[in-house]
Parts: sequence; C-alpha cells; structure tokens
Amino acid sequence: MVTLSVSMIRQARCTTLRRLQPFARGYATPAGAELKVSNQFLSINTRSLNRATQPNTSFKSVTHYDDNAPQSTLDMIHAHTSYLLNTYARPSILFTHGKGCKLFTTSPSSTSSSGVQEYLDFTAGIAVNALGHGDEQIAEIMKDQQSKLTHASNVYWNEYAGELAKLLVENTRKQGGLGLKSDSAPGTGAKVFFSNSGTEANEGALKFVRKYAKEVNPSMASTKTAIVCFTNAFHGRSMGALSVTPNPKYQEPFAPLIPNVRVGELNQHEGLEELIDENVCGVIIEPIQGEGGLNEGTRDWMIKLAKRAREVGAILIYDEIQCGLFRTGKMWAHSGFPLEAQPDIVTMAKPLANGFPIGAIMVRDHVAEKISVGSHGTTFGGQPLATRVGAHVVSRLSAPEFLSRMNDTAAHLDTLLERLPKLFPNIIPAPVRGRGFMRGIPFAHADAPAELVKRARQRGVLLLTAGKDAVRLVPSLTVTKEECDHAIGVIESCLVTMEEDGFGK
Ligand SMILES: Cc1ncc(COP(=O)(O)O)c(C=O)c1O
Repeated sequence: MVTLSVSMIRQARCTTLRRLQPFARGYATPAGAELKVSNQFLSINTRSLNRATQPNTSFKSVTHYDDNAPQSTLDMIHAHTSYLLNTYARPSILFTHGKGCKLFTTSPSSTSSSGVQEYLDFTAGIAVNALGHGDEQIAEIMKDQQSKLTHASNVYWNEYAGELAKLLVENTRKQGGLGLKSDSAPGTGAKVFFSNSGTEANEGALKFVRKYAKEVNPSMASTKTAIVCFTNAFHGRSMGALSVTPNPKYQEPFAPLIPNVRVGELNQHEGLEELIDENVCGVIIEPIQGEGGLNEGTRDWMIKLAKRAREVGAILIYDEIQCGLFRTGKMWAHSGFPLEAQPDIVTMAKPLANGFPIGAIMVRDHVAEKISVGSHGTTFGGQPLATRVGAHVVSRLSAPEFLSRMNDTAAHLDTLLERLPKLFPNIIPAPVRGRGFMRGIPFAHADAPAELVKRARQRGVLLLTAGKDAVRLVPSLTVTKEECDHAIGVIESCLVTMEEDGFGK
C-alpha cells in the first residue's frame, strides 16, 4: 500500500489544476498578483453569461481545497481546538485579511505565498460587512478614536452616541420607517438605545414591551405578558431572544425558556385574532427572515398583523438585524410598507459598524416615554469607538450616490438570479426569494443547499445556507456587477456538477 503525505496530495492536485484550469493558478499566488488573473476569470464568465439558455460551466473544476492550508495553519487550528469551545462546525480555513468582497487565507507578506487563497465573499460575515473588508476610511477612524477614547462608560456623555442616534432617526424619517412622517420636526418621533449585538438589541426590546404594557395597563400587569413570534424566526440565543426563536434544535437543550411565548405561522390570516389577544404585550417579527430561509410576510398580512397588534395595545417589534440598514436597497425592509404596517420598535445590529460589535433599539416616542433612568443599561453599549464607526457607516450607506450604485448592481444580480430556476428547474423549483442583496435560492432537495455551499467554496466563492431549503447570498453592499457575474457563474457551474451527480432526479 502506498501512503501519500498531505504535501504529496496537494502537489498532485496543483499539477492537475494547472493542467485543467490555467486561470485557477491565480488563486495560488500572492494577493496582488492574483487580482489580474481574477479579472480574466470575470471576463470569461461575463461572456458565457450571454448564453441565456445555457448554464455557465467555466468553473466546474475544484480550485480551492478545504484542507489546502499550509501545515502551520493546520497545526494552529489543531492547537486552538484544545482551548475553544466546540460550538461551530467549520472547514480548516483560516482567514487573515480581506479587501472589499475578497477574503484571503494568509498574509501576503508571509514567508510562503503558496498557501494564499482568495475567496469571493458572498456572506459578508453573515450580512455584516456592508462596506466590505479592510475599508481604509474605517481603519483610519478606528485608529484615531482608539488613540483618543475607546470607552468611558455610560456614566458620562460622549460625542458620538447622540450623533449616531440622530443619523438613525433622521435618516429613518427621510427614507421611511418606524411610522415617522417625513415632514415631522427633527428630533421628534423616536429615540435610540445602543447595545453590543443583535441578540442584546432584541433582549432589550422584549424588556421594553413588557414594561410598556405594565405602565399603560397597570390592572393587567400580571396578565398582559404574552409575546408572539413566528415559525422559522431567528432573534438570537440569549434566554429571552431564544424563547422567541422557535427552532427545537436551538431551544430544547436549554428548556425551560421564558414562559408566555406564542408561536404563529407566517402569512396565516386565520386565527390571528386568537393568537394576538388582549394578553399579548408584544409581537416580534423579521420583515424578511434571515436564518429562517428568506421568507417574507406579504403586504396584506403585515398590515393585518400590525393592525391587530395595535387593536390590543401590543407593541410591534421589527427585527431588522439582518434585513435592515440598506441591505434590501432601502434603509429598512419595512421602509416601503404603508403607515398601517409600521412598527413601534426596530432592532438593528450586524452592519451598523461594519463588523465592530454594536446593536441598537430604535423606539417610537410612546414607547420611549415609558423607559426611564435605570430601566435598562449596558457597560459597552454606545461607547465612543463603536458609535463613531457607526455614524461613519450610516453616513456612507445613506448617501444617494451609494444607494443608486448599489440598487443598480442589485438589479443586475436580479437578472442573473432569475435565470437559475429556468436553467435548473429540477433542483430549484421556485423563484429566488428576498430583495436587494439579501437573496435566498430555494432547493427541492434537503441536502442541496449545504452541498452547493461546499461546492462553491471549493471553487472560491463563499455562500451561506438559510432555513431548511435555501442558499443565502448576502454580499457586502459594495459588491460589483463583475463580482455578481463571477459568483453566479460559479453557482451555475456547481449546479451543473450537482445535476451530473444526480441532484434533481
Ligand atoms: C434577524 C436576526 N436577529 C437577531 C440576530 C442575533 O444577532 P447577534 O448574532 O448579533 O446577537 C441575528 C443574527 O443572525 C439575526 O439574523
């Protein structure tokens, strides 16, 4: 029996790659040199996309092996497993730096360039890095603020928490959301509390709805405590947020959770009155579900839901942690909803400081009035470093030129995605879900999403699964048309290989 060492296997693979895929060599060179080659990649891909009725097959060969990291990296990963709690299943890929929508596995200045691999990131750190990786303006701001003041606690004021809160409220007034009217006076209508993550934002929002109900209906203080959430929702993993995340896999090991949570069905009109009765103090919903599979409440149903919540005096929370802050092309996924379907509270996090931890709860005045000194608090939330970065991010994302370029690119992505169910009707049985840069490709076969994510990663494109049936695309909002062409070209090639392997039969 012949035993092959890891390096022999890699060498053999590289030789095969060189023979089969001349352009794949770009991925084995240092970052700077790679870019030129990757543009060649893109132009080939764009040409082949012109064939409307045929899938792109340019990327059928594997170029990025999951175990291709240098031995030193593999050793480091192995050593780290002795110290890190094992809560994530992940391939042996260790990213050291990124630029725009690209991620790289090792530093270009490392002594060996052979291990450098470039990936096109269509995950943006799970819908986080709206302005891409390695943004120089953000780096400058962080450096400057770190050297001045990172944190001094909420015992005192700082320069940036109020600035970011103002940007959030006034942009919401301008661009639509939270029921704020565009002609209402600045500084009125809503207020913001800063947290450190999405989960914490939701946790705070759940506390606020309980407090609001007790203050407004003291005679029902012990009965008006129920909270309504919906199937396939994801709101976080702390005890409160987990209690409104009705996924048995996440919940069962930690039961009992907080009591008095009711679970409804998305878009089910029947039974809404019973679900949301007088004992309900709050309703929490993602206008577009992220982790749950890119499912969306229909316009009619969202109006009915919001009306019913108002009828019984329940506070409506829109969790826009994944779908908010311009990912759908507007500031909020609910920006275009009619007044009747506007919420009382919006929670946000992920892209707010482009990856630096921050979350926020934005509440309308009638809720804000019930929140007083001591109602809630945090050590880090609203610190000058996070909120200064946040103010910079929101200013850039809300600039009309940014939004117009982004929406133009999103329309281009739309045309590419529309092809997929037509090209692969047996694998992709329905149109792609979601809006803007939050898209979900639905699959007929339960194993297909994870398989596509793996095959795309092995061809240098990072994707995510979502829910039971979808592959999720949530790239940085700075993604280019060429990068969309490349990502979809790789997806099409992978789907061809999956078809060949019997998916869709
Ligand atoms: C809609 C939604 N809510 C809440 C959360 C939890 O946010 P975090 O992971 O920042 O705590 C997430 C995270 O994926 C999310 O997508």
